[in-house]
Amino acid sequence: MPADFPSVPVTRVVSGIQPTGNLHLGNLLGAILRWVKMQDDAPCFFFLADLHSLSEHVPAEVRRANIREMAAALIASGIDPAKSVLFVQSAVPAHAELCWLLNGTARMGWLSRMTQWKDKSGKNKEGASVALFDYPVLQAADILVYRPSHVPVGEDQKQHIELTRDIAIKFNTDCDVDLFIPPEPYIGGGTAARVMSLRDGTAKMSKSDPSDMSRINLIDDDDTIASKIRKARTDPDPLPSELEGLDGRPEARNLVGIMAAATDRSEQDVLRDFAGQGFGAFKPVLADALIALLAPIRSRLVELRSDAAALDAHLSDGAQRAREAAAPTLAAAKQALGLL
Ligand code: TYM
Repeated sequence: MPADFPSVPVTRVVSGIQPTGNLHLGNLLGAILRWVKMQDDAPCFFFLADLHSLSEHVPAEVRRANIREMAAALIASGIDPAKSVLFVQSAVPAHAELCWLLNGTARMGWLSRMTQWKDKSGKNKEGASVALFDYPVLQAADILVYRPSHVPVGEDQKQHIELTRDIAIKFNTDCDVDLFIPPEPYIGGGTAARVMSLRDGTAKMSKSDPSDMSRINLIDDDDTIASKIRKARTDPDPLPSELEGLDGRPEARNLVGIMAAATDRSEQDVLRDFAGQGFGAFKPVLADALIALLAPIRSRLVELRSDAAALDAHLSDGAQRAREAAAPTLAAAKQALGLL
């Protein structure tokens, strides 16, 4: 059984994405394609983490546009609002309310050790927002309020899910209840757990990288995709026949991982096809595979974008269903804490 195969039955799935600009290939291959597949396994709750996006200032009209754009991108990628509960986090007040309750459980030391906090606050901790520091507690609330069995995310979110487990266990112990289910991070499972920058195989592909050449965006046209792959950093050696041959070759490993996830194959299968060949042969095939994956999503996105009323209707229906699902857990948490 692969290491990333769910070890407990999938009974309920929860995950979120920040609505900060475009969806990129890292989000898609690291998380969203997995979400799409899980829709048929169990009830799924997927949300746009607009409250999380408050950790950085963004003008109101930009945030509003980003939320709709991300909702459209998720639906275009295959999230079906009739199957999954798709909603905006701030439309379900139980997330923020439970976050406050869990602030009594989470420890300063735990949050200070979070890599994201250390990276994003950098040397200016005094100037960082409280929301940035408290971000993982809100993420714990997002998850625990639905009592899911699984949280499909990319590798970069693993530490936050582990913190969620710690918060769940401490709350249950402190209050002597069996309320929160420590969730399993579900990383990989046929998707690329960690998609790296096309310019530097040791840095994560991310929307905050200043170089647009480092990532492929959902809205990039076919020529842009082909050009970004053509210019992607590689090394001069041919591709190996075995996975170990990618050790110490981060850029080669990244492109093989992207090809595997984009074509729903294992990395070993990809190497079987390309062993002994150089990147001159590999890159055009990779570009074609990405265009085949992204072009239909992009054209659906363009269509969905033009109907804001339909998008808002999906989100409002999702929020109603999410509020109903979250209410009993919030009530039980209040009761466990002695709130009247
Ligand atoms: P966010 O918005 O940064 O990313 C959304 C999802 O995409 C994955 N991802 C990647 N996977 C592989 N390679 C990459 N280069 C890459 N970049 C992004 C992320 O791991 C994530 O799964 N804190 C979360 C949002 C969140 C959340 C939650 C997630 C808020 N509450 C509760 C799960 C459960 C975030 O900022 O993801």
